[in-house]
Amino acid sequence: MANSPPPPGTADIFPEESRRWRQLEQTAVRVFGYYNYEELRTPIFENTEIFQRGIGVETEVVQKEMYTFHDRGGRSLTLRPEGTAGIMRALLNTDVLNGTEQRVFYYGPMFRGERPAAGRRRQFHQIGVENAGRVSPELDAECIAMLMHFLDEIGVTGAELRLNTRGIAADQESAATLLRNFFSSHLDSLCQDCRIRFSQNIWRILDCKQDDCKQIAACAPNYHSCFTPDSLSYFDRVRQSLDMLNIPFRIDRQLVRGLDYYVHTVFEVTHPALGAQTAVAGGGRYDLLLPGQSKAIHGVGFAAGIERLMLTQDAVGVVAQNDKRRPVYVASLGERARMENFKLANDLRHAGIPVIMEMEDKSMRSQMRSANRFHSPWVIIRGDEELMRGTAIIKSMDGQQEQSVHPVDDILDRMDALLNGN
Ligand code: HAM
Repeated sequence: MANSPPPPGTADIFPEESRRWRQLEQTAVRVFGYYNYEELRTPIFENTEIFQRGIGVETEVVQKEMYTFHDRGGRSLTLRPEGTAGIMRALLNTDVLNGTEQRVFYYGPMFRGERPAAGRRRQFHQIGVENAGRVSPELDAECIAMLMHFLDEIGVTGAELRLNTRGIAADQESAATLLRNFFSSHLDSLCQDCRIRFSQNIWRILDCKQDDCKQIAACAPNYHSCFTPDSLSYFDRVRQSLDMLNIPFRIDRQLVRGLDYYVHTVFEVTHPALGAQTAVAGGGRYDLLLPGQSKAIHGVGFAAGIERLMLTQDAVGVVAQNDKRRPVYVASLGERARMENFKLANDLRHAGIPVIMEMEDKSMRSQMRSANRFHSPWVIIRGDEELMRGTAIIKSMDGQQEQSVHPVDDILDRMDALLNGN
Protein backbone atom coordinates (compact mmCIF):
# COMPACT_ATOMS: atom_id res chain seq x y z
CA MET A 1 0.00 0.00 0.00
CA ALA A 2 1.28 3.50 -0.82
CA ASN A 3 2.62 5.28 2.22
CA SER A 4 1.93 8.96 1.98
CA PRO A 5 1.90 10.52 5.44
CA PRO A 6 0.97 14.16 6.02
CA PRO A 7 3.73 16.54 7.25
CA PRO A 8 5.27 15.74 10.68
CA GLY A 9 3.09 16.81 13.56
CA THR A 10 -0.12 16.78 11.51
CA ALA A 11 -2.66 14.03 10.96
CA ASP A 12 -5.44 12.96 8.64
CA ILE A 13 -8.68 12.44 10.51
CA PHE A 14 -10.55 9.61 8.82
CA PRO A 15 -14.36 9.28 9.10
CA GLU A 16 -14.47 6.91 12.06
CA GLU A 17 -12.38 9.34 14.08
CA SER A 18 -13.93 12.54 12.74
CA ARG A 19 -17.31 11.19 13.86
CA ARG A 20 -15.94 11.25 17.41
CA TRP A 21 -14.64 14.78 16.89
CA ARG A 22 -18.08 15.91 15.81
CA GLN A 23 -19.69 14.32 18.87
CA LEU A 24 -17.19 16.06 21.10
CA GLU A 25 -17.80 19.39 19.42
CA GLN A 26 -21.56 18.93 19.63
CA THR A 27 -21.30 18.21 23.36
CA ALA A 28 -19.21 21.37 23.78
CA VAL A 29 -21.77 23.46 21.89
CA ARG A 30 -24.57 22.04 24.05
CA VAL A 31 -22.80 22.51 27.39
CA PHE A 32 -21.45 25.98 26.54
CA GLY A 33 -24.98 26.87 25.46
CA TYR A 34 -26.18 26.26 29.04
CA TYR A 35 -23.90 29.17 29.96
CA ASN A 36 -25.10 31.29 27.07
CA TYR A 37 -21.93 31.07 24.96
CA GLU A 38 -22.22 31.37 21.19
CA GLU A 39 -19.79 30.59 18.43
CA LEU A 40 -17.40 33.13 16.94
CA ARG A 41 -15.36 32.06 13.92
CA THR A 42 -12.20 34.01 13.20
CA PRO A 43 -9.56 33.55 10.46
CA ILE A 44 -6.95 30.83 10.75
CA PHE A 45 -4.22 33.40 10.09
CA GLU A 46 -3.88 36.89 11.48
CA ASN A 47 -1.44 39.77 11.15
CA THR A 48 1.64 38.61 13.05
CA GLU A 49 1.60 41.57 15.42
CA ILE A 50 -1.76 40.42 16.83
CA PHE A 51 0.06 37.47 18.40
CA GLN A 52 3.27 39.34 19.18
CA ARG A 53 1.41 42.04 21.10
CA GLY A 54 -1.40 39.82 22.36
CA ILE A 55 0.56 36.80 23.61
CA GLY A 56 3.82 38.63 24.37
CA VAL A 57 7.07 38.78 22.40
CA GLU A 58 9.02 37.06 25.16
CA THR A 59 6.92 33.92 25.22
CA GLU A 60 8.20 30.68 23.75
CA VAL A 61 5.16 30.45 21.52
CA VAL A 62 5.99 33.76 19.84
CA GLN A 63 9.77 33.36 19.87
CA LYS A 64 10.08 29.78 18.70
CA GLU A 65 6.85 28.21 17.60
CA MET A 66 4.89 30.44 15.25
CA TYR A 67 4.33 29.63 11.58
CA THR A 68 4.96 33.08 10.14
CA PHE A 69 5.11 33.92 6.44
CA HIS A 70 4.92 36.91 4.14
CA ASP A 71 2.10 37.11 1.62
CA ARG A 72 2.54 38.47 -1.89
CA GLY A 73 1.86 41.97 -0.63
CA GLY A 74 4.78 41.66 1.83
CA ARG A 75 2.51 41.50 4.91
CA SER A 76 3.69 39.37 7.80
CA LEU A 77 1.00 36.83 8.63
CA THR A 78 0.94 34.00 11.16
CA LEU A 79 -1.09 30.80 11.40
CA ARG A 80 -2.86 31.16 14.72
CA PRO A 81 -0.96 29.42 17.55
CA GLU A 82 -3.95 29.93 19.87
CA GLY A 83 -7.42 31.40 19.75
CA THR A 84 -7.62 34.16 22.36
CA ALA A 85 -5.74 36.97 20.56
CA GLY A 86 -7.70 36.60 17.31
CA ILE A 87 -11.01 36.34 19.13
CA MET A 88 -10.24 39.53 21.04
CA ARG A 89 -9.27 41.30 17.82
CA ALA A 90 -12.68 40.40 16.45
CA LEU A 91 -14.45 41.47 19.65
CA LEU A 92 -12.91 44.94 19.34
CA ASN A 93 -15.77 45.45 16.87
CA THR A 94 -18.18 45.17 19.80
CA ASP A 95 -18.48 47.31 22.90
CA VAL A 96 -16.22 44.99 24.86
CA LEU A 97 -13.71 47.70 25.78
CA ASN A 98 -16.50 49.52 27.63
CA GLY A 99 -17.30 46.52 29.76
CA THR A 100 -20.07 44.95 27.69
CA GLU A 101 -19.87 41.26 28.39
CA GLN A 102 -19.33 38.91 25.46
CA ARG A 103 -19.52 35.14 25.72
CA VAL A 104 -18.09 33.24 22.78
CA PHE A 105 -16.67 29.82 22.02
CA TYR A 106 -14.60 28.57 19.12
CA TYR A 107 -13.09 25.39 17.82
CA GLY A 108 -10.63 24.63 15.10
CA PRO A 109 -7.00 24.13 14.15
CA MET A 110 -4.09 25.92 15.85
CA PHE A 111 -0.45 25.75 14.77
CA ARG A 112 2.73 25.59 16.83
CA GLY A 113 6.13 24.43 15.58
CA GLU A 114 6.77 22.13 18.53
CA ARG A 115 8.61 18.80 18.51
CA PRO A 116 5.86 16.25 17.76
CA ALA A 117 5.17 13.67 20.48
CA ALA A 118 2.22 11.79 21.87
CA GLY A 119 -0.49 14.42 22.38
CA ARG A 120 1.73 17.14 20.92
CA ARG A 121 1.20 18.19 17.34
CA ARG A 122 2.13 21.04 15.05
CA GLN A 123 -1.42 21.32 13.83
CA PHE A 124 -3.64 20.60 16.78
CA HIS A 125 -7.22 21.52 17.54
CA GLN A 126 -8.73 23.46 20.37
CA ILE A 127 -12.18 23.97 21.78
CA GLY A 128 -12.09 27.23 23.67
CA VAL A 129 -14.23 29.89 25.25
CA GLU A 130 -13.72 33.54 26.08
CA ASN A 131 -15.75 35.69 28.40
CA ALA A 132 -14.66 39.25 27.62
CA GLY A 133 -15.43 42.72 28.92
CA ARG A 134 -15.99 42.10 32.63
CA VAL A 135 -13.81 41.38 35.65
CA SER A 136 -15.18 39.27 38.48
CA PRO A 137 -13.83 36.32 40.47
CA GLU A 138 -17.24 34.64 40.14
CA LEU A 139 -16.93 34.79 36.35
CA ASP A 140 -13.54 33.06 36.63
CA ALA A 141 -15.08 30.36 38.80
CA GLU A 142 -18.04 29.99 36.43
CA CYS A 143 -15.65 29.57 33.50
CA ILE A 144 -13.75 26.83 35.34
CA ALA A 145 -17.05 25.22 36.33
CA MET A 146 -18.10 25.16 32.68
CA LEU A 147 -14.85 23.42 31.70
CA MET A 148 -15.34 20.79 34.42
CA HIS A 149 -18.99 20.38 33.39
CA PHE A 150 -17.90 19.77 29.78
CA LEU A 151 -15.23 17.24 30.83
CA ASP A 152 -17.85 15.48 32.88
CA GLU A 153 -20.26 15.29 29.93
CA ILE A 154 -17.63 13.74 27.66
CA GLY A 155 -16.83 11.11 30.29
CA VAL A 156 -13.40 12.43 31.29
CA THR A 157 -13.36 11.46 34.94
CA GLY A 158 -10.41 11.63 37.31
CA ALA A 159 -9.02 14.90 35.92
CA GLU A 160 -7.10 17.20 38.24
CA LEU A 161 -7.70 20.95 38.36
CA ARG A 162 -4.71 23.05 39.37
CA LEU A 163 -5.23 26.67 40.29
CA ASN A 164 -3.03 29.69 40.91
CA THR A 165 -3.04 33.47 40.81
CA ARG A 166 -0.61 35.64 38.88
CA GLY A 167 -1.84 38.78 40.64
CA ILE A 168 -2.08 41.98 38.63
CA ALA A 169 0.74 43.69 36.75
CA ALA A 170 1.52 45.91 39.77
CA ASP A 171 1.99 42.81 41.98
CA GLN A 172 4.26 41.07 39.58
CA GLU A 173 7.23 43.41 39.83
CA SER A 174 7.91 42.82 43.54
CA ALA A 175 7.10 39.12 43.18
CA ALA A 176 9.55 38.86 40.28
CA THR A 177 12.23 40.50 42.44
CA LEU A 178 11.62 37.94 45.17
CA LEU A 179 11.93 35.11 42.62
CA ARG A 180 15.03 36.63 41.04
CA ASN A 181 16.75 36.80 44.43
CA PHE A 182 15.95 33.16 45.01
CA PHE A 183 16.91 31.81 41.58
CA SER A 184 20.11 33.88 41.37
CA SER A 185 21.72 31.56 43.92
CA HIS A 186 20.72 28.50 41.84
CA LEU A 187 21.64 29.74 38.38
CA ASP A 188 24.37 27.14 37.86
CA SER A 189 21.95 24.29 38.47
CA LEU A 190 19.25 25.57 36.10
CA CYS A 191 18.89 24.37 32.51
CA GLN A 192 20.07 26.46 29.57
CA ASP A 193 16.55 27.70 28.80
CA CYS A 194 15.93 28.71 32.41
CA ARG A 195 19.12 30.74 32.49
CA ILE A 196 17.69 32.74 29.60
CA ARG A 197 14.31 32.87 31.36
CA PHE A 198 16.10 34.26 34.41
CA SER A 199 16.77 37.50 32.58
CA GLN A 200 13.82 37.48 30.16
CA ASN A 201 10.84 36.00 31.97
CA ILE A 202 11.56 34.77 35.47
CA TRP A 203 8.05 33.33 35.90
CA ARG A 204 8.65 30.67 33.28
CA ILE A 205 11.34 29.04 35.44
CA LEU A 206 8.54 28.05 37.78
CA ASP A 207 6.95 25.73 35.25
CA CYS A 208 10.07 24.37 33.54
CA LYS A 209 9.60 20.69 32.78
CA GLN A 210 13.24 19.68 33.51
CA ASP A 211 13.57 17.63 36.71
CA ASP A 212 16.43 19.67 38.23
CA CYS A 213 14.66 22.98 37.58
CA LYS A 214 11.41 21.56 38.94
CA GLN A 215 13.06 20.57 42.19
CA ILE A 216 14.60 23.99 42.63
CA ALA A 217 11.36 25.78 41.67
CA ALA A 218 9.45 23.73 44.23
CA CYS A 219 11.53 25.45 46.93
CA ALA A 220 10.94 28.98 45.60
CA PRO A 221 9.51 31.42 48.17
CA ASN A 222 5.79 32.07 48.27
CA TYR A 223 5.54 35.07 45.97
CA HIS A 224 1.84 35.44 46.81
CA SER A 225 3.12 37.26 49.88
CA CYS A 226 4.10 40.16 47.57
CA PHE A 227 0.60 40.51 46.14
CA THR A 228 -1.75 43.31 47.23
CA PRO A 229 -4.63 42.46 49.60
CA ASP A 230 -7.02 43.16 46.69
CA SER A 231 -5.37 40.52 44.51
CA LEU A 232 -5.37 38.02 47.35
CA SER A 233 -9.01 38.63 48.19
CA TYR A 234 -9.87 38.26 44.47
CA PHE A 235 -8.21 34.85 44.56
CA ASP A 236 -10.01 33.95 47.79
CA ARG A 237 -13.33 34.64 46.11
CA VAL A 238 -12.44 32.41 43.17
CA ARG A 239 -11.60 29.61 45.59
CA GLN A 240 -14.73 30.14 47.67
CA SER A 241 -16.90 30.08 44.54
CA LEU A 242 -15.33 26.81 43.41
CA ASP A 243 -15.82 25.36 46.89
CA MET A 244 -19.44 26.41 46.76
CA LEU A 245 -19.84 24.48 43.48
CA ASN A 246 -18.04 21.47 44.99
CA ILE A 247 -15.30 21.63 42.39
CA PRO A 248 -12.08 20.17 43.83
CA PHE A 249 -8.80 21.92 42.98
CA ARG A 250 -5.21 22.03 44.08
CA ILE A 251 -3.34 25.31 44.53
CA ASP A 252 -0.11 25.12 42.57
CA ARG A 253 2.15 28.14 42.76
CA GLN A 254 4.36 26.68 40.04
CA LEU A 255 1.53 27.01 37.56
CA VAL A 256 2.18 30.23 35.63
CA ARG A 257 1.10 29.34 32.05
CA GLY A 258 3.10 30.00 28.91
CA LEU A 259 1.31 33.07 27.57
CA ASP A 260 2.04 36.54 28.93
CA TYR A 261 -1.46 37.99 28.99
CA TYR A 262 -2.59 36.33 32.22
CA VAL A 263 -3.47 38.23 35.39
CA HIS A 264 -5.18 36.94 38.54
CA THR A 265 -6.58 33.44 38.08
CA VAL A 266 -4.75 30.77 36.05
CA PHE A 267 -5.70 27.12 35.86
CA GLU A 268 -4.87 23.89 34.10
CA VAL A 269 -6.47 20.49 33.96
CA THR A 270 -4.30 17.39 33.75
CA HIS A 271 -5.15 13.72 33.79
CA PRO A 272 -3.04 10.87 35.20
CA ALA A 273 -3.46 9.01 31.91
CA LEU A 274 -1.58 11.73 30.01
CA GLY A 275 0.91 12.55 32.77
CA ALA A 276 1.24 15.70 34.84
CA GLN A 277 3.20 17.54 32.11
CA THR A 278 0.54 17.28 29.47
CA ALA A 279 -2.42 19.55 30.10
CA VAL A 280 -5.77 18.57 28.70
CA ALA A 281 -6.96 22.16 29.04
CA GLY A 282 -5.71 25.46 30.38
CA GLY A 283 -6.78 29.03 30.77
CA GLY A 284 -7.21 31.96 33.05
CA ARG A 285 -8.02 35.63 33.38
CA TYR A 286 -6.18 38.01 31.10
CA ASP A 287 -5.62 41.64 30.17
CA LEU A 288 -4.92 41.58 26.49
CA LEU A 289 -3.48 44.55 24.66
CA LEU A 290 -3.77 44.53 20.89
CA PRO A 291 -1.86 46.64 18.34
CA GLY A 292 -3.23 50.15 17.99
CA GLN A 293 -5.12 49.96 21.29
CA SER A 294 -4.31 51.90 24.44
CA LYS A 295 -6.78 49.97 26.56
CA ALA A 296 -6.50 46.27 27.36
CA ILE A 297 -9.45 43.92 26.99
CA HIS A 298 -10.33 42.08 30.18
CA GLY A 299 -11.41 38.50 29.84
CA VAL A 300 -11.33 35.00 31.16
CA GLY A 301 -11.33 31.79 29.17
CA PHE A 302 -9.81 28.43 28.49
CA ALA A 303 -8.94 26.10 25.66
CA ALA A 304 -8.89 22.31 25.62
CA GLY A 305 -6.90 20.29 23.09
CA ILE A 306 -9.25 18.02 21.16
CA GLU A 307 -6.55 15.41 20.49
CA ARG A 308 -5.72 15.31 24.21
CA LEU A 309 -9.38 15.07 25.18
CA MET A 310 -9.67 12.02 22.93
CA LEU A 311 -6.52 10.40 24.31
CA THR A 312 -7.98 10.87 27.78
CA GLN A 313 -11.34 9.46 26.70
CA ASP A 314 -9.52 6.41 25.32
CA ALA A 315 -7.58 6.01 28.56
CA VAL A 316 -10.67 6.12 30.76
CA GLY A 317 -12.53 3.78 28.40
CA VAL A 318 -15.16 6.11 26.94
CA VAL A 319 -16.70 4.23 24.03
CA ALA A 320 -17.69 6.45 21.13
CA GLN A 321 -21.24 5.92 19.98
CA ASN A 322 -21.59 4.93 16.36
CA ASP A 323 -24.20 7.38 15.15
CA LYS A 324 -23.59 6.75 11.45
CA ARG A 325 -26.83 6.02 9.60
CA ARG A 326 -26.38 2.90 7.49
CA PRO A 327 -27.30 3.52 3.86
CA VAL A 328 -30.02 1.72 1.93
CA TYR A 329 -28.46 -0.05 -1.04
CA VAL A 330 -30.15 0.29 -4.44
CA ALA A 331 -29.32 -2.64 -6.74
CA SER A 332 -30.06 -2.69 -10.48
CA LEU A 333 -30.16 -5.33 -13.16
CA GLY A 334 -29.66 -3.87 -16.61
CA GLU A 335 -28.88 -0.44 -17.99
CA ARG A 336 -32.44 0.90 -18.07
CA ALA A 337 -33.15 -0.12 -14.48
CA ARG A 338 -29.91 1.51 -13.38
CA MET A 339 -30.94 4.83 -14.92
CA GLU A 340 -34.38 4.64 -13.28
CA ASN A 341 -32.74 3.70 -9.96
CA PHE A 342 -30.42 6.67 -10.29
CA LYS A 343 -33.57 8.81 -10.10
CA LEU A 344 -35.08 6.69 -7.29
CA ALA A 345 -31.88 7.07 -5.24
CA ASN A 346 -32.10 10.83 -5.67
CA ASP A 347 -35.76 10.85 -4.52
CA LEU A 348 -34.90 8.74 -1.46
CA ARG A 349 -32.05 11.07 -0.51
CA HIS A 350 -34.32 14.09 -0.83
CA ALA A 351 -36.68 12.28 1.55
CA GLY A 352 -33.80 12.14 4.05
CA ILE A 353 -32.81 8.51 3.51
CA PRO A 354 -29.10 7.74 3.05
CA VAL A 355 -28.57 5.71 -0.14
CA ILE A 356 -25.69 4.07 -1.92
CA MET A 357 -25.96 2.51 -5.38
CA GLU A 358 -23.72 0.81 -7.89
CA MET A 359 -23.08 2.97 -10.97
CA GLU A 360 -21.48 0.23 -13.08
CA ASP A 361 -22.94 -2.89 -14.62
CA LYS A 362 -22.35 -5.48 -11.88
CA SER A 363 -23.92 -8.87 -11.14
CA MET A 364 -26.56 -9.15 -8.42
CA ARG A 365 -24.11 -11.22 -6.36
CA SER A 366 -21.47 -8.55 -6.51
CA GLN A 367 -24.03 -5.86 -5.60
CA MET A 368 -25.15 -7.92 -2.57
CA ARG A 369 -21.53 -8.18 -1.48
CA SER A 370 -21.28 -4.39 -1.70
CA ALA A 371 -24.48 -3.98 0.31
CA ASN A 372 -22.90 -6.13 3.01
CA ARG A 373 -19.73 -4.12 2.92
CA PHE A 374 -21.72 -0.91 3.46
CA HIS A 375 -23.68 -2.63 6.27
CA SER A 376 -26.89 -1.69 4.46
CA PRO A 377 -29.95 -2.79 6.41
CA TRP A 378 -32.14 -2.90 3.28
CA VAL A 379 -31.65 -3.38 -0.43
CA ILE A 380 -34.06 -2.11 -3.08
CA ILE A 381 -33.84 -4.18 -6.25
CA ARG A 382 -35.10 -3.36 -9.73
CA GLY A 383 -34.52 -5.07 -13.04
CA ASP A 384 -36.37 -5.06 -16.38
CA GLU A 385 -39.22 -7.12 -14.99
CA GLU A 386 -39.86 -4.71 -12.09
CA LEU A 387 -39.64 -1.77 -14.49
CA MET A 388 -42.29 -3.35 -16.69
CA ARG A 389 -44.60 -3.89 -13.70
CA GLY A 390 -43.87 -0.57 -12.04
CA THR A 391 -42.62 -2.32 -8.89
CA ALA A 392 -39.47 -2.68 -6.80
CA ILE A 393 -38.30 -5.39 -4.41
CA ILE A 394 -37.31 -4.63 -0.85
CA LYS A 395 -34.93 -7.13 0.72
CA SER A 396 -33.85 -7.14 4.33
CA MET A 397 -30.15 -7.82 4.74
CA ASP A 398 -30.42 -9.29 8.21
CA GLY A 399 -32.51 -12.11 6.74
CA GLN A 400 -35.21 -11.60 9.34
CA GLN A 401 -37.92 -10.68 6.86
CA GLU A 402 -39.01 -12.15 3.55
CA GLN A 403 -38.32 -9.94 0.59
CA SER A 404 -41.42 -8.09 -0.58
CA VAL A 405 -42.63 -6.46 -3.79
CA HIS A 406 -44.16 -2.95 -3.79
CA PRO A 407 -45.45 -0.46 -6.35
CA VAL A 408 -42.51 1.83 -6.99
CA ASP A 409 -44.62 4.85 -5.97
CA ASP A 410 -44.90 3.39 -2.46
CA ILE A 411 -41.17 2.79 -2.02
CA LEU A 412 -40.39 6.12 -0.34
CA ASP A 413 -43.10 5.69 2.29
CA ARG A 414 -42.32 2.03 2.77
CA MET A 415 -38.60 2.67 3.25
CA ASP A 416 -39.32 5.51 5.62
CA ALA A 417 -41.59 3.28 7.69
CA LEU A 418 -39.04 0.42 7.74
CA LEU A 419 -36.16 2.65 8.77
CA ASN A 420 -38.16 4.33 11.48
CA GLY A 421 -39.52 1.04 12.75
CA ASN A 422 -43.18 1.65 11.78
P1 HAM B 1 -2.62 26.69 26.02
O1 HAM B 1 -2.38 26.15 27.38
O2 HAM B 1 -1.43 27.17 25.27
O3 HAM B 1 -3.66 27.88 26.19
O4 HAM B 1 -3.36 25.62 25.14
C1 HAM B 1 -4.59 25.07 25.57
C2 HAM B 1 -4.63 23.58 25.30
O5 HAM B 1 -4.35 23.33 23.92
C3 HAM B 1 -3.59 22.76 26.05
O6 HAM B 1 -4.02 22.48 27.37
C4 HAM B 1 -3.53 21.50 25.21
O7 HAM B 1 -4.60 20.64 25.52
C5 HAM B 1 -3.73 22.05 23.81
N1 HAM B 1 -2.44 22.17 23.12
C6 HAM B 1 -1.56 23.18 23.17
N2 HAM B 1 -0.49 22.94 22.39
C7 HAM B 1 -0.70 21.73 21.82
C8 HAM B 1 0.03 20.91 20.89
N3 HAM B 1 1.19 21.31 20.37
N4 HAM B 1 -0.51 19.72 20.53
C9 HAM B 1 -1.69 19.29 21.04
N5 HAM B 1 -2.44 20.03 21.91
C10 HAM B 1 -1.95 21.22 22.29
C11 HAM B 1 -4.14 28.63 25.16
O8 HAM B 1 -3.99 28.37 24.00
C12 HAM B 1 -4.96 29.81 25.62
N6 HAM B 1 -5.39 30.57 24.45
C13 HAM B 1 -6.14 29.33 26.45
C14 HAM B 1 -6.97 30.49 26.95
C15 HAM B 1 -8.15 30.91 26.46
N7 HAM B 1 -6.64 31.29 27.94
C16 HAM B 1 -7.58 32.20 28.09
N8 HAM B 1 -8.50 31.99 27.16
